[in-house]
Amino acid sequence: MEKHHHRGSWGSSLGFLMAAIGSAVGLGNLWGFPFKMGANGGFAFLLIYIILTVAVGFAMLMAEMAIGRKTGRSAVSAFRKLDSRHPEVGYMGVISGTIVVSYYCVLGGLCLRYCLGFFVEAFGGTGFLGHGETFFQSFTTAPWSIILFTALFALITGAILMGGVSGGIEKFSTIAMPALFFMLIALVVYISRQPGAEQGYAFMFTPDWDYLKENFFSVLSTAAGQMFFSLSLAMGIMVAYGSYLKKDENIPRDALLICGADTIIALLAGSLVIPAAFAFVGEDAYMSGVKLLFVTMHQVFFNIGGRFGCFLGFIFFLTVCIAAITSSVSLLEVSVSFGVDRRIDKHKEPKRTRVIAICTIFVFLLATPVALDAMGGTPGTTPLGLLQQWFPSLALKGWNESFINAYSFISEGFLMPLGALLTSLYIGYKYKTTLITDECRMGRSRVLDLCYRFIVPITMLVVLYGQLKNFLG
Ligand code: PHE
Repeated sequence: MEKHHHRGSWGSSLGFLMAAIGSAVGLGNLWGFPFKMGANGGFAFLLIYIILTVAVGFAMLMAEMAIGRKTGRSAVSAFRKLDSRHPEVGYMGVISGTIVVSYYCVLGGLCLRYCLGFFVEAFGGTGFLGHGETFFQSFTTAPWSIILFTALFALITGAILMGGVSGGIEKFSTIAMPALFFMLIALVVYISRQPGAEQGYAFMFTPDWDYLKENFFSVLSTAAGQMFFSLSLAMGIMVAYGSYLKKDENIPRDALLICGADTIIALLAGSLVIPAAFAFVGEDAYMSGVKLLFVTMHQVFFNIGGRFGCFLGFIFFLTVCIAAITSSVSLLEVSVSFGVDRRIDKHKEPKRTRVIAICTIFVFLLATPVALDAMGGTPGTTPLGLLQQWFPSLALKGWNESFINAYSFISEGFLMPLGALLTSLYIGYKYKTTLITDECRMGRSRVLDLCYRFIVPITMLVVLYGQLKNFLG
């Protein structure tokens, strides 16, 4: 029991929920989901997404939390405790979590820059934000500024972790998440009253059954991949967060609440971002990827105009920053808890502060190539562009068009679905579902059996196939 205190634990059930929802709600909700839903059949996509969240996401979320709490350890140590010969799933989580947090820091740094820019302009400054695409290009290709903001974002993440599990992660999330929610609602209400927004709702919500019929597997794979990323699964996060839980916490209820909140916030974001783009920029706007957030949304608030527009822009990017920070905190916690538990397993002092410092610096270094190649914007002048000139065979496939593509392919595209596939197979066939249901104080569940043995593995195979095709195609 004493060790448990050593590692840290959540102060309250609500605090844990805020931290877990904070991890789940991130850039994936704010810009991944809206576009993917609109482009993949609208309401038809949403239905598939919800079915997958219930049948796959919920089961895996519960499993990760239960494994964490049962073993009292984060990913690698947890899987090693279950079977000393098979910690590999844990390592996959640590590796992909570390890769994701590195590019998350670059994107988060960009969010900070926009947030600051709109703040200054809203309160009287000028010339701090340039215009739409030009600003985006000049900012991302100016190496020092983007590196500076990446470092700032990494530092903020590290600083929150330094506060500890309940004093840092939990405290920050408990204040930030309700703020995020209310700001989001306010923006959604404002946008809904603007002429032109209805085109955005039409794009988002009109069901396109024909599209679904013709592209069933690609829709399925996109929805499942998005759902997994959005729920922060298969990265060891929910194992680590679960390991800080008290024994009387109701895991199935929490898993349900996290799934629900994550989906609701994704839908709110969809009712904001896409309609705003239609109302204030028009159909030609970039409706996907980084440019949806940084070029299109930038234009939206400039076109609203004046100080008021800039103020709304500030609120919007503050919301995005909060979403990004609570997610990157959870991602960095994966490698931090890995380092801490390694020391504890060797009966050493955890030295959390030192581990956090090392992980933050490491992640920052890993992030620099992503920051320096301008999101793939200027091939030939970037490190990756040069590498491709020297080794032309590297340039053949889409996965390495930019460092951010390469990073997200290795993590979200490959390690995440593979890790989830292995985890569910281990649970379904080796440890048996009772490993999870016992920890959750539930009776035997045939439905969960079915999930871990068949539904999750099959879905993950579809995702894996879809992602490989997508990135390498
Ligand atoms: N869930 C976060 C999002 O939607 C991202 C994330 C992925 C965070 C994996 C942690 C782990 O953006």
